[in-house]
Amino acid sequence: MKIKRSIRFALALVAGLALLTWIASGLVQRTTRDWFERDVRLRAEAVVNGAQQALFSHWRKAESQDLRKLLVELTRDERIMAAAACGANLSALAFTPNFPREFSCRTIADHVRPAPDSPGSAWSAWHSVSSLPGGGIYVSAIPLLENERALGFVVLVHDLSFMERRETETRYFLLFTFGILALIAAAITLIAARLSWRGWSNELRRLLRGEVNERPEFNPILRDVRELYDRILEHEGGSWTPERLRHTLKRHLQGERIVIVANREPYIHAHGADGAIVVQHPASGLVTALEPVMRACSGVWIAHGSGPADRETVDKHGHIRVPPGDESYILRRIWLTKEEERGYYYGFANEGLWPLCHLAHARPIFRSEDWEYYRKINQRFADAVCEEVDSDDPIVLVQDYHFALVPRLIRERMPRATVITFWHIPWPNSENFGICPWRNEILEGMLGSSIIGFHTQSHCNNFIDAVDRYLESRIDREHNAIVQQGRRTLVRPYPISLEWPVHWIKDLPPVADCRAGIRAELGLAPDVLLGVGVDRLDYTKGVEERFLAVERLLDRHPEYRGRFTFVQIAAPSRVEIDRYRDLNENLVKAADRINDKFRKDGYRPIILLRAHHEPPAVFRYYRAADVCYVSSLHDGMNLVAKEFVAARDDERGVLVLSQFTGAARELTEALVVNPYDLDQASAALATALTMPLPEQHERMRAMRTFIAEFNVYRWAGRMLADAARIRERERLTGRLEGEHAADRARATR
Ligand code: F6P
Repeated sequence: MKIKRSIRFALALVAGLALLTWIASGLVQRTTRDWFERDVRLRAEAVVNGAQQALFSHWRKAESQDLRKLLVELTRDERIMAAAACGANLSALAFTPNFPREFSCRTIADHVRPAPDSPGSAWSAWHSVSSLPGGGIYVSAIPLLENERALGFVVLVHDLSFMERRETETRYFLLFTFGILALIAAAITLIAARLSWRGWSNELRRLLRGEVNERPEFNPILRDVRELYDRILEHEGGSWTPERLRHTLKRHLQGERIVIVANREPYIHAHGADGAIVVQHPASGLVTALEPVMRACSGVWIAHGSGPADRETVDKHGHIRVPPGDESYILRRIWLTKEEERGYYYGFANEGLWPLCHLAHARPIFRSEDWEYYRKINQRFADAVCEEVDSDDPIVLVQDYHFALVPRLIRERMPRATVITFWHIPWPNSENFGICPWRNEILEGMLGSSIIGFHTQSHCNNFIDAVDRYLESRIDREHNAIVQQGRRTLVRPYPISLEWPVHWIKDLPPVADCRAGIRAELGLAPDVLLGVGVDRLDYTKGVEERFLAVERLLDRHPEYRGRFTFVQIAAPSRVEIDRYRDLNENLVKAADRINDKFRKDGYRPIILLRAHHEPPAVFRYYRAADVCYVSSLHDGMNLVAKEFVAARDDERGVLVLSQFTGAARELTEALVVNPYDLDQASAALATALTMPLPEQHERMRAMRTFIAEFNVYRWAGRMLADAARIRERERLTGRLEGEHAADRARATR
């Protein structure tokens, strides 16, 4: 702003100086012209006076020849171009050869001799500026008086072109000088503004970052500037990075350490084939998103220690510093017995809440003993939070449907805590939600939060409707907030995303190598078209529907038989639950049936890889594929879709995406389909396989640009910024209430 203002000022300065130059050059021209004319006048009189005696003598003798010679002599002065001698009777006595015809003695005499009506008055000199076709002239008529008797007059014609030349030179000189001055003044203004702006903005930046001791007198303005700065960043975008997230945390929340509560741990320790301990990265969208945030912010991640070698790697507090080799935060593991895991995780969370929230036609199962385990384990995690925090107003991020009761449990012990709950799965409409026998407890538990986040606005609306329907509360629809028992909870959409760039692809081979390598490993010809699907084995992911779409493609487009293969990476999940075991079997059967149907010369259209794959392996498949099909029947976001896009730095490959994912609202350049509609889905696969490269580039580039901007740092940053605003308001309210209480106490004393 300041620089812009300086530029405007510099331009105004230049314009002002130009105007000044124009006015000055006019003044200078007029003054120099006056000087020149006076000079010419004096010179004319001096010339005539100097030659007076000679003029008298020739005049008296009426020797016109000699008089003419004398006049020619006078015109030797380079500025006198012609001369004439006029008698008192107005006759021309002599004139030089080039005397202009325009001027006769008779016409000039009127200006020199006295007017006929005033015979007593004397002859006087006359001077006038005039012009000839060749340029300006100055005519002087000087009377020749002998003993006050007029003999006549001498006319001298001066050349004024030298005067015009000098005027032009003076004007150019002036313009040049003023021009240089204007440029110097403008440059000095800009440099001064830039230097002072840089110094000022550096200082401001340091103040905003808290790198210098704040001066109390700046506090009010600093707060305003910070707010404005944040608002500008929020509205104008700008890329979010781990550094920016760290700064947000530091600026808004005084660098508080964050405590995350999530069932799934980011690192699982297991025993490798040789018995040595190995680290695994679980197949979990939640981990994919949150792990980079924790790396950026540091703090504590409290999770179920589910790995077979987990206990061997922690200290006596259940702590281990992670990520391995680049430790930046603490993983606190919570231990569960088999029964507890069965009741809380498999039972209530995954047989009750999971199918309740997903429209995937699986009937939720609610058992009161599962509910009891759910309550018990929620309490255990809430207790762990209270052990891990280092203040009575910590920032706690509660993740997902495993911990609906934790927010209230934390609030009961730490009323000043800021609890942000993020629900990673959809929220059903209030009627569907109403079938849960413990619906009120779940809603009340969640309303212990300061903020509840969902991926989409429609999930927010469903949640608010459920509260409205089942609880005594006040809904503030204007601000998307719920007020219950005097406590306010914001309900906001925060669509989750990935770190950007995704660090897993840093060390991966180029796309061409991944294409060739994966095809060779799968025993496919180098030119085979490859489709890929990557999922936890879950019935909500629509993997069966995906296989059926591949079958429909090959039915309708026989030209792809032998030329197109779909590889499905399926990480085993929740295998204790019947529904998941059934899914496993059904998928194998479906793949076998379709493979049998199209099998020919070793060709099988579906390759089902039912095993955990570490992220680098998964990203190799993304890079090798021509098409990725995400066919979820219902999904909060689905980060596989975003991972595929993130993996394709070659801007090739096509994403076919279910309309029932949160991602479909953001990645609109994907081919969006209804996975239940096999005709539509198979047609989209065919379109993907024949999509021209320029179109692939265009779509992929648009999606990559979107994810780069709307990355997971932004997701976390927005929630933390909202949390900071709540904390600020609560601090102010608290201070006001304190002051009122003190006033009342004083009044009663
Ligand atoms: O998809 C919702 C989700 O909660 C993810 O956030 C997470 O990746 C997954 O489900 C949980 O899976 P799991 O039961 O294996 O932890």
